[in-house]
Amino acid sequence: MTAVSPHSFTDRRVLVTGASGGIGRATAHAFAQAGARVAVHYHRREEEARTTLSGLAGSGHLLLRADLDDDEDCRRLIAESESRLGGLDILVNNAGLYLRRPFALHDDESWRTEFRRQLRVNLEGPAFLAYLAARGMIARGYGRIVNVGSRGAYRGEPEAPGYGAAKAGLHALTQSLAQALAPYGVAVTAVAPGWVETAMAEEHLRGPEGAAIRAQSPLGRVARPEEIARTILFLADDDAEYLTGSILDANGASYLR
Ligand SMILES: NC(=O)c1ccc[n+]([C@@H]2O[C@H](COP(=O)([O-])OP(=O)(O)OC[C@H]3O[C@@H](n4cnc5c(N)ncnc54)[C@H](OP(=O)(O)O)[C@@H]3O)[C@@H](O)[C@H]2O)c1
Repeated sequence: MTAVSPHSFTDRRVLVTGASGGIGRATAHAFAQAGARVAVHYHRREEEARTTLSGLAGSGHLLLRADLDDDEDCRRLIAESESRLGGLDILVNNAGLYLRRPFALHDDESWRTEFRRQLRVNLEGPAFLAYLAARGMIARGYGRIVNVGSRGAYRGEPEAPGYGAAKAGLHALTQSLAQALAPYGVAVTAVAPGWVETAMAEEHLRGPEGAAIRAQSPLGRVARPEEIARTILFLADDDAEYLTGSILDANGASYLR
């Protein structure tokens, strides 16, 4: 019987989007700890992204800025990751945008603007990055793409319907790409977290609804970013090929489907 080995990503080249904090930072740390070289992507929080970079174990990591709402930025992000890392084995589509707006209080123009922006940042951008990265992966016959979706895709996002719709789209994209890319050695998966202790959730967790949010899980708490990072590494593993197409719930049994 073959022994089950712990995750090793020695010499793997990884791009983690949205690594200026939260899940992305924890994921960059976990990959670097496991021997990978990491491209740390950020959008606005440069200082925080530099903190991520300087805390990574090992060497050969780099920092890249891009707005996922901008096609040229997306092209440059993949091209620079590939040229500076010498190729790209793993793409983690983690960056995301959640705009909390009471549904009834929108005027027409801002509703359309914000809905579209959430679709672009949470779905179109990651889809384009996956397309661009997959070309190199197909050429080398190996790749892993892990998308960070959300429980909200299933449970609903009444205060951010654009976010919920985009994440549902990201899950569907994961399944389509898994089928399309399997023949080329590229596995595509997603993780669907419930609440996670990050900047994105801070306002909710610190607010009056914080206790009720924690009580959604029978564990009585929300996830730590490191727990989601571990799930991402599990999905990105060499041995995880047969998980392709999976969308793994990581929500502390707060929503069972
Ligand atoms: N926290 C939760 O409860 C929760 C639950 C389910 C799913 N998720 C998902 O987990 C992922 C990571 O979020 P997080 O919780 O770790 O929150 P976070 O710390 O706020 O991270 C969000 C990341 O997305 C980046 N980003 C936002 N808009 C962008 C844009 N236009 N272009 C490029 N990057 C952009 C941010 O970059 P800058 O900060 O540098 O601008 C940041 O690095 C997201 O996809 C989120 O939807 C989170």
